[in-house]
Amino acid sequence: MKILVTGGLGFIGSNFCRYIITKYFDNKIINIDKIGIGANPANLEDLESEKRYNFIKGDIGDSELINEIIKQVDAIVNIAAETHVDRSIANPTPFIQNNTIGTFTILEGIRKHNDKAKLVQVSTDEVYGEIREGSFKENDMPQPSNPYSASKAAADVFVMAYHKTYGLDVAITRCTNNYGPYQIPEKLIPKTIIRALKNLPVPIYGSGKNIRDWIYVQDHCEAIDFVLRKGESGEIYNISAENELPNIEIVKKILKMLDKPENLITFVEDRPGHDIRYSLDSSKIKSKLGWKPKFCFEEALEATVKWYVNNEWWWKPLATEKILNPTPWKLRDSY
Ligand SMILES: NC(=O)c1ccc[n+]([C@@H]2O[C@H](COP(=O)([O-])OP(=O)(O)OC[C@H]3O[C@@H](n4cnc5c(N)ncnc54)[C@H](O)[C@@H]3O)[C@@H](O)[C@H]2O)c1
Repeated sequence: MKILVTGGLGFIGSNFCRYIITKYFDNKIINIDKIGIGANPANLEDLESEKRYNFIKGDIGDSELINEIIKQVDAIVNIAAETHVDRSIANPTPFIQNNTIGTFTILEGIRKHNDKAKLVQVSTDEVYGEIREGSFKENDMPQPSNPYSASKAAADVFVMAYHKTYGLDVAITRCTNNYGPYQIPEKLIPKTIIRALKNLPVPIYGSGKNIRDWIYVQDHCEAIDFVLRKGESGEIYNISAENELPNIEIVKKILKMLDKPENLITFVEDRPGHDIRYSLDSSKIKSKLGWKPKFCFEEALEATVKWYVNNEWWWKPLATEKILNPTPWKLRDSY
């Protein structure tokens, strides 16, 4: 199988490219990434000499480039996106451009140039919005709360419309919060680890009671692969590992693993529209496709913390004051 992976120099994209190249000796990848926020060429240095892996610096919104590549592949896994909610509050425009119009450009490319290619659209639990009790199922209506999740929900709606109108072979994955190596230090877990290692105050939004459901990135990559190879056309698959935790608890766990005091925790002004809880019912992917998460939360979190401790060379150039800012959503239009 020849796969176009978009956003393959980011956190999930780089883990996904490595997963595919290592698992399938006859698969080929073309990775398109514009090297924007979240991207780091160092993430896939180990694949640079691999003949089955080809990197092209480019934007998924560039229809000429995208069309040319779509003609050559069997499948597209669209991982590219602007991904930080705080940034979307500071400046929403790039989110519509990259997440919604970028996906639309890919759909047009498939429709016009290779309508047999399969598209896996990598989406997020955030499109459903918050849920105080119970868990969202795939047929629940998206009710996004912030510009990031709205831009992703809009992309999902286009993907489904192209399936219904033009019969494109598409599937959508909606996953919970990922953790693991190669995540940009502006996100909660790497930011907490890095600020704690530097003995800086560790910021928590509001009361710290907001609940997120955590999954190890490798489990997410495997689930995307299951959907790519076995997923039904026109279907949505929720992905979760059922590790729900209030943010304050995950921060406390990390501080304990690093042997740092809890008094590093500092409560800061909450971001607007901060969803109180996300939760997914992922029984469909388990029963229909046979996927299940493999990693134990405590062990994988510990391995993640150790990875950042041992790979300062990787995060040091990225961990600027701006990236480690305690309340980045306040940096209106300059973030
Ligand atoms: N991180 C999570 O917890 C999580 C959870 C569920 C779903 N997702 C989804 O997974 C995807 C990847 O998330 P991530 O955390 O790896 O993000 P990331 O920010 O680490 O990486 C995103 C990558 O996309 C690239 N990119 C952005 N716009 C582009 C464009 N127009 N053309 C080409 N490349 C572009 C960036 O350069 C970057 O390398 C996103 O679609 C996100 O919505 C993430």
